[in-house]
Amino acid sequence: MNNIQDEFISTVSHELRTPLTSIRGFSQTLLSSWDKLDEESKKRFVSIIEEQSNRLINLVENILAVSRINADKPILKEVDVNAVIEKVLPLISQKYKKHRLVTQFETKIPTVRLDEDKFQQIITNLLDNACKYSEEESSVTIKTLFSDCENVKIVIKDEGVGIKFEDLEKIFDKFVRLETHLTSKAQGNGLGLYITKNLVEIMGGKISVTSELNKGTEFTLEFPFFNEEEALKCFHQC
Ligand SMILES: Nc1ncnc2c1ncn2[C@@H]1O[C@H](COP(=O)(O)OP(=O)(O)O)[C@@H](O)[C@H]1O
Ligand SMILES: [Mg+2]
Repeated sequence: MNNIQDEFISTVSHELRTPLTSIRGFSQTLLSSWDKLDEESKKRFVSIIEEQSNRLINLVENILAVSRINADKPILKEVDVNAVIEKVLPLISQKYKKHRLVTQFETKIPTVRLDEDKFQQIITNLLDNACKYSEEESSVTIKTLFSDCENVKIVIKDEGVGIKFEDLEKIFDKFVRLETHLTSKAQGNGLGLYITKNLVEIMGGKISVTSELNKGTEFTLEFPFFNEEEALKCFHQC
């Protein structure tokens, strides 16, 4: 346990130090050479400072989310998953203006006992990744269904860079980021899927992934629903 904690602290410190060193370096250069620098360079340095500050803020928010995973008990109530997804979509399309977000909702989906905030965070993380690791103008599809009378499924599919089979297990570990031309361009710290998987599991759900390199990736969430009336109706149909 201590070893895991030590390793976590040392990784976090390293992740914090990198942007901080860059912020300090560029601030010092701006201060010491203000009169010698042209406008263009000043602007470039300030925008690096801004970018690195954002990176720090995201990192700190994610570290707090990691530390809260086991501390915050989920507040469960009956949730309409389609409605929550509808709430998240505008935030994603605002950030990724050029992606096509497609919804395929099962309209008669039963409610699921979930913590709405945590479920919202899960959907946000997966949609954010789907857009971040795919090209502009490509489609990201989010589909809801209940196919087996026991689980509600949510499928998030993109047409992006994809993930090699041997890397699929790793992506849910802390601080793992795979090498792709989009990972170096896109901001991230490799904590999103770790947080996502933990949040899914503390609410009794499952997460799985399939992917093909350069074709796209599909994440599937499954949550059991316990609404007896719905289950009976569904059994009659099966
Ligand atoms: N939809 C996706 N398509 C391709 N690669 C993905 C996708 N989602 C996650 N990954 C890979 O898994 C890694 C871990 O994801 P995550 O924990 O959300 O970290 P981050 O987004 O901060 O890099 C990413 O860096 C990326 O390499
Ligand atoms: Mg992410």
